[in-house]
Amino acid sequence: MLLDFEKLTPRDGYAWITQAIIPRPIAWVSTISADGKPNLAPFSFFQAICSNPPTLMFVPTNNRDGGKKDTLRNIEAVPEFVVNLVSYALAAPMNDTATPLPYGEDEFAHAGLEPAPSSRVRPPRVAASPVSIECTLDRVVTIGSGVGAGNVVFGRIVAMHVADSVLSADGKALDPVKLDLIARLSGEFYMRTGELFTITRPPGGSALRS
Ligand SMILES: Cc1cc2nc3c(=O)[nH]c(=O)nc-3n(C[C@H](O)[C@H](O)[C@H](O)COP(=O)(O)O)c2cc1C
Repeated sequence: MLLDFEKLTPRDGYAWITQAIIPRPIAWVSTISADGKPNLAPFSFFQAICSNPPTLMFVPTNNRDGGKKDTLRNIEAVPEFVVNLVSYALAAPMNDTATPLPYGEDEFAHAGLEPAPSSRVRPPRVAASPVSIECTLDRVVTIGSGVGAGNVVFGRIVAMHVADSVLSADGKALDPVKLDLIARLSGEFYMRTGELFTITRPPGGSALRS
């Protein structure tokens, strides 16, 4: 079977892309509006980019009416955000925060989540998240237009909160099993960090291995 993306509708293209490119990590992004109201929403078009400067990206696509999601509106008004990572224990409240509430309504309250103050940016973080990454806006790159177009938000990482409970025994690294993060598959399927294996990289190459 060969799929010709020039002949697929954006909706069908979305289905095939999101069924094939899995698992995707989830950025649970907290922002605030110009008048200080918090917002929280999950995004699985999300990745780390580089460490010099420390940068990540996530993508609020346009709404069904072609408009901007609240997260993007807030970042354009207050160019700071927090990417909270989602452990298995937080799967249900994470899902609750994908409810399309009217602009200015607080998904922390909607999902019964406790906010905690951030250290370097104004939006609060999710207190129960095992890792919260504070970012300032680097830039937004818009790909396409109308429904399904992507607004790639690049964030400069300025601080990271790490819960002591997810540290390795020597306290110097994150333990992936203790983190117990979930990832998005397609439709209503998710996966949990489960069976792990190790593989040794060939010698040489970059000192910073991605
Ligand atoms: C696990 C998960 C991943 C999602 N990933 C994305 C994504 O990458 N991009 C996007 O635009 N919407 C994504 N959504 C939908 C948004 O979370 C949803 O549209 C939300 O209402 C946006 O909130 P906001 O308008 O407050 O920014 C995802 C939803 C879930 C549950």
